[in-house]
Formats: sequence, structure tokens, C-alpha cells
Amino acid sequence: MTTWSLRRRPGRTLGLLLLVILSFLVIRRLEWSTLIPAWLRHRQLGLHTKGQHFMLEDSIFWIFGGSIHYFRVPREYWRDRLLKMRACGLNTLTTYVPWNLHEPERGKFNFSGNLDLEAFVLMAAEIGLWVILRPGPYICSEIDLGGLPSWLLQDSGMKLRTTYKGFTEAVDLYFDHLMSRVVPLQYKHGGPIIAVQVENEYGSYDRDPAYMPYIRKALEDRGIIELLLTSDNKDGLKKGMVHGVLATINLQTREELQLMNTFLVSVQGIQPKMVMEYWTGWFDSWGGPHNILDSSEVLETVTSIVDAGSSVNLYMFHGGTNFGFINGAMHFHEYKSDVTSYDYDAVLTEAGDYTAKYSKLREFFGSFSDAPLPPPPKPLPKMTYEPLIPVVYLSLWDVLSFIGEPIKSEKPINMENLPVNEGNGQAFGYILYETIITSSGTLSGVVRDRGQVFLDTVSIGFMDYKTTKIVIPLIQGYTFLRILVENRGRVNYGNNIDDQRKGIIGNLYLNDSPLKKFRIYSLDMKKSFFQRFSIDKWTHIPDVPTFPAFFFCGFVIGSSPSDTFLKLEGWEKGVIFVNGQNLGRYWNIGPQETLYLPGPWLFRGNNQIIIFEEVMAGSVIQFTDTPYLGRNQYIH
Ligand SMILES: *[C@@H]1O[C@H](CO)[C@@H](O)[C@H](O)[C@H]1NC(C)=O
Repeated sequence: MTTWSLRRRPGRTLGLLLLVILSFLVIRRLEWSTLIPAWLRHRQLGLHTKGQHFMLEDSIFWIFGGSIHYFRVPREYWRDRLLKMRACGLNTLTTYVPWNLHEPERGKFNFSGNLDLEAFVLMAAEIGLWVILRPGPYICSEIDLGGLPSWLLQDSGMKLRTTYKGFTEAVDLYFDHLMSRVVPLQYKHGGPIIAVQVENEYGSYDRDPAYMPYIRKALEDRGIIELLLTSDNKDGLKKGMVHGVLATINLQTREELQLMNTFLVSVQGIQPKMVMEYWTGWFDSWGGPHNILDSSEVLETVTSIVDAGSSVNLYMFHGGTNFGFINGAMHFHEYKSDVTSYDYDAVLTEAGDYTAKYSKLREFFGSFSDAPLPPPPKPLPKMTYEPLIPVVYLSLWDVLSFIGEPIKSEKPINMENLPVNEGNGQAFGYILYETIITSSGTLSGVVRDRGQVFLDTVSIGFMDYKTTKIVIPLIQGYTFLRILVENRGRVNYGNNIDDQRKGIIGNLYLNDSPLKKFRIYSLDMKKSFFQRFSIDKWTHIPDVPTFPAFFFCGFVIGSSPSDTFLKLEGWEKGVIFVNGQNLGRYWNIGPQETLYLPGPWLFRGNNQIIIFEEVMAGSVIQFTDTPYLGRNQYIH
């Protein structure tokens, strides 16, 4: 095997240079290319192919990559995770770019805070990593709707991932903005981005033969000049290839490796091979086990990949967390949504800790390095804080009076089409639908994904994919019928992504006649939602609280805060917010039993926790220094 050597490491000098150039740009808003110093102008070839090899300029180059998604890791920990990646002997960072998070409202972009893509890419460069960018627009990634903004679904005729005009117009505007940020970060302009992926696993969707050429051109027209790649799993490889773009493969087993490599050679001829996603583990769904993959098997497969002459990217090197409501779902035979943790049984744990996979892979990749690998950073301490007892609460029914007038509508309106968020609809969270009924009978309708049904404030059951009817018992006079509907996550992979509208879809029927005159409360649970009811509104928790309800608890941390995990024994299902950060959903059906709470999101001094619980509260909130993600099950 050829010894891998990375001659021109983008080290500290490059980082410094980029910083200087960037500040210069900000002040002068000059054309980037005019700023390239002479010594950088030799960056002309970039990453390219020569026979069976990748070449970086004139040297043979092996891509030893790992995936970390900046949007799943607290920004304060980006450096820690990237240093750990470099110390594992990897030379390339790969990341997706989630359109839905970057453009929450049409034409209104957010690339700041935890979404500061450029800062993440530049930090990788500074640490000595190259970058392969995977900008979608569809990214799968086990994120809601595969990273596509839910406002696309306002159009009832929307055809996602096709050249349907309503889709391409939105992509064009997004790419205009995104690529103006990405272009200067490319290798040939002095940045670390050595390759860019065209869409993602399109072969397994394959609706429109004009689509992939359109995306390729959309990238090129906006100044993307580095090597272009496609990436496909075994179901899509045959259909996912695009003329003039290097195909790479996604897989987990050695059997797949052999089959797919043979196919690639037969179609693509002698070209460098790359496993763009070698799945180091797998994600988990609510109600299932915690999927794991043995570390020896991971090492054997990575060894086989490299022995077969292939470059490799570890998906995931570090998975992180589906903070907030960003998790995706699968819906083949049955709808299954992904848990909050995106630990993935990856090389680093959800909290960034080392695993057996890390030490094995470090030894493996280290054997290709000319110089000794940098030492791995010290592990971050974990804490078990004292248990907390919530003292005050507000039932959802009390909250309704603080959050402003509901939307009034003859018929139910689905989440994406609610007149909120500057006309962009509601993306995530819950909706409460309310109307008045005067008789008993059978209630039926399409509720996505799960609706808790109440008569006044009394819960009478749930409607979901399996339970589409519910019997309303005898009632007296005018009674409030209320349905609290949760968007549990839109499908991120499969043929039904156009069909991912949430809330109540179409009419709701009582004894087959449609109910009318709805009052609809958008409960997106963003920061602005909680700002509408201040702490003086909260009341002491009665012996028998009314659910659903919000529970509040303040606590003091004396020393500098550390990472910890929240454990909600006795609580049933809900969402937890710490100091305004949405840590994600919990649910006692498992597998996940603890939620990751990153130290940097805690304060020395006063801290606040709010829990939204749908059904039943426990008496305490516990902390632990050890995560528990559920009963382990080997993937094979
Ligand atoms: C942009 O996104 C970051 C990270 O999610 C968030 O903290 C910030 O509030 C957002 N900015 C705006 C203006 O919405």
C-alpha cells in the first residue's frame, strides 16, 4: 500500500492567514481571488483523480475522513471534537449543511452561533483538517425532512428533490446565499474545502433525471470549483451516478464493499474509490433497542476498505445530539421517529468521550502517518449534580391565556400552513386544536404524528398512525374538544417525503360529519414562546396536577459547570429546556433514558430547567455522570 503523506498541512500558518484575509475582506469587501498571495497560487489542481488515486496537487492522497455535524455539537465543543479527530489520525472533516436550520423563514438566513458553518470549517483548517462539504440541499442525516425546510410543504403540489419549479426556485435562492459563503473556503481560494458532494443518495430516490444535472450546475454556476462527488448506498448506486462526477459509496459491511466496488469499476473504470459513509454504528428509534456495532468489526471493515485501495470517511466519527425537535423519522411499514441522542455508537460518544473504536482506529490510521499523531485531548469531566424537586408549574390550559389569541379557522390547518412565523408556517413542536362539540360519537381523522384528545381538560386517549378513531363518551351540553398534536419528526429517507405535513390533515369528523370553527394554538416552544409567560405566573404544584403541564425548577451550581446527563425517572413523555436551550424529547418507552446536558450550557450560579410533560410527572429530576441509551443490540 502507498504510504499516505499530507505534505501541505493546513496548519497554524494557514489558519492565521485565513483570519487575516477574512478580516481584510470584511473591511474592504474585495474580490477574494485578488488577495491570494503568490505562494498560494500554486493551488491549481486541488483534489483530483489520476488513475486509481486521489491526488492533492502532485501528491497521492488518501482521504481518511470523519463526519461531525456542527449543528449537533455545542459550539463550545467544536474544537475539542476536531482535535480528537486529528489525534485519531484522520485528515479530513466531512459535514452536511442543514438547509431547514439555516433558512427558518424564506429568505431569512441564520449562519450564526451554533450554525456558524464558516467558523466550523475554518477551525477544522486551523487544526490541520481538510474539509469535504455535503451541502445537499437534501441531506438525509436523520434530521427532520432530510434537512429540507418544512415551509416547502406549504405548496400542496410540492415535489421535493425534483426540478419542480417551486423547489428549484427555493434551492436557487438558498444556494445563492450558501455558496457565497462556501466559495472563498475552497482549496483553490486558499481554504480547506477539497471536495463538494452533489445532493445525497439521490439514486435511491430517483424521481427526475434532470434533477442531479441541475444540482451539479447550480453548484458550478455559483463558483464551486473543487472536485464533485456523489454518494449512494447499495439501493441507489446504479441510478445515482452523474456524468463527470466521481461516484462514492455508503455501506456497513465487507460484503457490500466487494459488490459495490466491483460495480463501480465496471461502470466508472479505473478511478479512485471512496467509501463516503462507512457506518460506524447506527441511529435509534423510539420504542426500539440501542443499536451498537462491535469495535473489532469496525476495525476489520475499515482495514478491508483501505486494503481494497479505497479512501474512507467514518460516518459518524462523532454523532452528537438531535437537540430541540430536529430528529428525523422513518416510515416504511410503520412510522418510527428517531431518539434525541445521535450517539450512533460512533467513534466518540454523544458527549465526545473516547471509545474502544477510537483507540483501535487511532492505531490503524496512525500507522500511515509520517509523524507521530498529536496526543488526544484530555477527557472532559462528567458530574452528577444533586437531584432537583420542581416547585412550581403551569398547566397547558393556564398557559393558553398567556400566549395570545389563537388562530381561528373553519377547518383544521396543518402545521406548515399555519399563519405564523412571518407566513412560513410552524416547523416544529406542538399544536393545540380546539372546537366545541355537543354530542358523543366516533371521532376520526388524520393526525400527524400523535394527538392527545381531551374533553375539556380530561384526556380520553391518543390518535396516531394506528389509532385513527376514538370514541367520545356521553357528554353534557357544550364541551371543548381539544387535540394536542405533536410533530414527532418528518421522514428523512424514503419515497414519502412529499407527504410529511404535520398536525391535523384535512377534516376532523365526528360521526362522519366534519367539525368546524377551530381555535388553533401554535406551540412551537421556541424561546419567544416561553417569554410570553413570566415566572410570577407559575403556581405551586398541587397534589394532583393537571396535565399536560410545564414544570419549573431553579438551581445553583457553585463550581464551574461540567457535562452531565438528565434522568427523568417517573416522568412519561415530553421535552426539556435548560437555560433556554431545548435539550430534546424524552419518552419512557425508551430506549434512551438519559439526556445529554453539555456543561457550557450551564452557568456558574443560577440555572433554570423547564419540563413540558404530556402525561405524568415524576417527583424529582435526577442527574447522572453516565449516559444510558438503552438495551444494546448488535446491528447484525
Ligand atoms: C441562529 O441560530 C442560532 C443557533 O441555533 C441561535 O442561537 C440564534 O438565536 C439564531 N438567530 C436568530 C436571529 O434566530
